[in-house]
Parts: sequence; C-alpha cells; structure tokens
Amino acid sequence: METKSRPTETILNVDQVHKTYQDVRSLFRKSALTITALNRVSLEIKRGEVFGLVGASGSGKTTLARLVLKLEEFEAGSIRFNETEIRNLKGKDLKAFRRKVQLIPQDPYQSLNPYLSIHDTLLEPLSIHKIGSRDTRTKIISQSLEAAGLNPAEDFFTRYPHQLSGGQRQRAAIARALVLKPEFMIADEPTSMLDASISFNIFRLLIKIQKSQKVTFLFITHDLAAARFFCDRIAVIYQGDIVESGTTEKVIQDPKSEYTRALIRAQPKFSFAKTTRPT
Ligand SMILES: Nc1ncnc2c1ncn2[C@@H]1O[C@H](COP(=O)(O)OP(=O)(O)OP(=O)(O)O)[C@@H](O)[C@H]1O
Ligand SMILES: [Mg+2]
Repeated sequence: METKSRPTETILNVDQVHKTYQDVRSLFRKSALTITALNRVSLEIKRGEVFGLVGASGSGKTTLARLVLKLEEFEAGSIRFNETEIRNLKGKDLKAFRRKVQLIPQDPYQSLNPYLSIHDTLLEPLSIHKIGSRDTRTKIISQSLEAAGLNPAEDFFTRYPHQLSGGQRQRAAIARALVLKPEFMIADEPTSMLDASISFNIFRLLIKIQKSQKVTFLFITHDLAAARFFCDRIAVIYQGDIVESGTTEKVIQDPKSEYTRALIRAQPKFSFAKTTRPT
C-alpha cells in the first residue's frame, strides 16, 4: 500500500529503554556491581531511512541492537516494531518478527557456520521459515547472493566461509540477511573487520540494497565519517545515554553536546564525504 512507504511512518520506536548488567566480578564481592548499558534510551526510526547509532566502544550500541532483535530482555521501557510491543511477541508472531528484522554482524567469520556451504547457509533461514519450494529456493538464494554482489551466484554455492575473502564473507552474511526479504536490517559495525577500500564497497552495496529493496537500516558505528556517508539521521550515544540526535548534517555541522564535538575533533578526516555518496 502506498501509505506504508511514507518516510514519516515510524517502524521502530524505542522508548525509555533501560538495561543493566551485573558485572561478573561482583560475584566475588559483597555488593553487586551494576553496569548501566542503556540509560532510558529513546529513539524513533522512520520506515525507509538509514538511522545511525554512533558512539565509542562500550557505549551500549550492540546492547541496543540485541534488545531490538529480541535476543535479550530489558528492565524498563518499551520497544515497538510496527506498533507492536516486541516484549509481548510469542509463537508465530515472534517467528514473523524474526523474519522481518535481520542482523548484518560485525564479524561474519564468527557468525557464519564454518560447516555449511554458502548455498546451505542461505537455505537454512528459508527452511526455518518454510519459504519457497525446492526449485524456487535455489532461485531465491541466487538472487540474494547476486544482490549482495557475489556474481555469478552459482560459483559460490559449494564454497565454505573459509574459502572466501573477508569482503566476500561479509557479502555472504549480507546475502543471508537478505534472503528473508527483511523490512528492517541492523548493521552492527559491518565493516570493522575490513580494510578501507573494501569497506567503501560494502557501504555502496548497503546503500544500493537500501534503495532497491526499500529496507530500513539501523547502522551502528563508532565512525562519524561512515555515519555521515550512509545515514539520514543519527543519534550519538555516550555511556548508555543518547546525548543528541537529528539529521546527520545538522548534528555534524551544529553539534549540541560536548561529547559530539569531541567525536568530531577526534576524526582525523572525513574520509567518506557526504558528496561522494552515490545517488
Ligand atoms: N553480557 C554482558 N554482561 C555484562 N556486561 C555486559 C554484557 N554485554 C555488554 N556489557 C557491558 O555493557 C556495556 C555496553 O556494551 P556494548 O557491547 O553494548 O557496547 P558497544 O557500544 O557495542 O561497544 P563496541 O563498540 O566495543 O562494540 C559495556 O560496558 C559492556 O561491558
Ligand atoms: Mg558493539
């Protein structure tokens, strides 16, 4: 339906989400040591946009991703995906949610099963979600591999993750995320294991996917320059607190918080200028 693709429509609403961990060292202490990974975090992502979550190591970025993916529980607040509270999802609704929200991991080597060929890596989610017949599955797998830039797809079917380069491995992980035709993708530092030129190609690929498949992206990074290249809006997170958010250019041109100013100063240069983003 036409109204569904309006950029003003909220796909994800994170409202006052609070998440703490008990420090393992606290087992040996009398009083527990609590780490506040997310301190009443709120953000709203619109359908079709690329939203960046930018912050230093340990600021809570992956924690937020894990909560949105419903891999962990949280103490307070709410996360609504397409207006449904994810906390309450069970059974077939939870399965449908798992199909719609996919992760592109930081380290594809850790996330791809070394014992599965690339064909079977992509077949697995199709089997779990009972999508397609035997013939159509092969076609879906080929299309996903090619959409992720692994051409011709058949050349990769029988290969195993260790037989791919780092960039190809990340493309295979992207293809696996694409195979279920998700509405929402979380890319958690998707290029941190890759060198600069391969990272650039992966960013170009993600932009292409975002435009052609109309996927909404939550892009997690410590790199403000990468966020500037890729994101429509960003939120800056510091020690579990969102310190500011807004359109990417506005936050970078006119930062409100001292932490964002420090992040900007710490960038040696903006290697991905906004103007180099393909349209
Ligand atoms: N399972 C856990 N048990 C205890 N503490 C945790 C756990 N997971 C995360 N933390 C802590 O929560 C905080 C946020 O961690 P998180 O992994 O979300 O950071 P991050 O922003 O993704 O960092 P990075 O950029 O290094 O990936 C950190 O202090 C971390 O040590
Ligand atoms: Mg992380």
